[in-house]
Amino acid sequence: PNEQDIYEEHVLDHYEDPYHRGELATATHADEGKNPLCGDVIQVMLRLDRDGKIEEAWFDGEGCVISQASASMLIEAIEGKTVEEAKEFTANEMLDLFGPQLTPNRQKCCLLSWRVLQSALHAPIDDSADDDDAGPSFGGPSL
Ligand code: FES
Ligand code: FES
Repeated sequence: PNEQDIYEEHVLDHYEDPYHRGELATATHADEGKNPLCGDVIQVMLRLDRDGKIEEAWFDGEGCVISQASASMLIEAIEGKTVEEAKEFTANEMLDLFGPQLTPNRQKCCLLSWRVLQSALHAPIDDSADDDDAGPSFGGPSL
C-alpha cells in the first residue's frame, strides 16, 4: 500500500533536487514549450555528438511539481542515449517513468518536457550551421 508514497517521495526528490536544471552553454540543440492550460514553460538543451549520441542534457523552466520533476526524470533518463533511442521513447514510457497515476490534465504536465525533448531533437541551434561548410556532405548511406 505504500507504493504510491514511495513514488511521491521520488517525485519530490526530483522537484527539490533536480537533475541538470540550468543552462547548457554548449548545447547543439534546444527548444522550449508551454503547457497552454496553465502557461508553464520548459526548455530542453542538448549536446549531441557526431555519432548521434546525447552527450549532455539539461532543462530549465517554471511550473508545477509534476512538470518540473518529470523534466528532471526525463533528462536524467535520456542522457547518454542515442538520438534514435530518445525519439523512440514514447509518451506512455514517460508516464511510467514518472510513476504515480495521473489524471488527463496532469498527464499534460508530465508530458510537457517529453514534447519539448522531441522537438529539441529536431531543433539544431543556428551557429552549428557553419559545420555544413567544413565537413563532408552527407551524400548517401555509404559508411
Ligand atoms: Fe498550477 Fe502549474 S499552473 S502548478
Ligand atoms: Fe502547468 Fe502542470 S500545472 S504544467
